[in-house]
Amino acid sequence: MIDQARLVARTASVLETRDLAAALAELARPSDLLVLVGDLGAGKTAFTQGFGRGLGIDEQITSPTFALVRSYTGRLDLYHLDVYRLEQVSEALDLGLSELLDDGSVTVIEWGDTIAPALPHDYLEVHLRFDVPDGPAPTGESSAPATEAAAGAAAGSAEVFERRIVELRPIGPRWSARVRALGAALAPWTEGGAGNDADTGTGNDADTGERGAPTERDGVGEC
Ligand SMILES: Nc1ncnc2c1ncn2[C@@H]1O[C@H](COP(=O)(O)OP(=O)(O)OP(=O)(O)O)[C@@H](O)[C@H]1O
Ligand SMILES: [Mg+2]
Repeated sequence: MIDQARLVARTASVLETRDLAAALAELARPSDLLVLVGDLGAGKTAFTQGFGRGLGIDEQITSPTFALVRSYTGRLDLYHLDVYRLEQVSEALDLGLSELLDDGSVTVIEWGDTIAPALPHDYLEVHLRFDVPDGPAPTGESSAPATEAAAGAAAGSAEVFERRIVELRPIGPRWSARVRALGAALAPWTEGGAGNDADTGTGNDADTGERGAPTERDGVGEC
């Protein structure tokens, strides 16, 4: 199933995460939705900053944690939401998400996985994880440290603070149709620059466990 494609990349600095996100923004279309998943400090806002730059937004993008939603004008306009503080999914419905999506902007939701029942079944999931040596594999439930400080303490190296695994999962037809283009956009951040050829038909099914692992699949297909 094309819904089950996973694309995995790694970044070594906040600048790389922003550049990766900017490259993905080249593929954005009106009414797209991105759901950002990841622990505190994983880089969801940093990703959005780069994504906004790729959308041609000049204004500085800041965390909308307290504002809940901020809007920006660019080649495509952006709604940036952070639903961390919502306590119930019903509050997410009050956000008027479908109206945001309908007006032709691109919407990015930090902690969007926490309001999954309120989401349309058509979005790009972007999961950011701390890339800790000998840490968890890039698939499955994250057991990465909840904070950068915890990550650093675990690994004992400042450099570790900077490394992230960025995993993309297209959910639904809008982004699944762009899976090859997503793989190409990610190539600079995958091993050899060609790890994610996004071939959903054959080959590359196994997680090799190596850095810059190729496209992965998940038989679960949850959303
Ligand atoms: N490779 C990297 N990618 C992203 N951020 C990085 C990276 N390396 C270091 N950082 C730093 O990690 C922090 C990420 O913060 P950011 O606010 O983007 O996280 P967040 O996931 O939005 O957190 P929150 O859940 O609190 O909203 C920044 O201080 C950034 O400079
Ligand atoms: Mg944030």
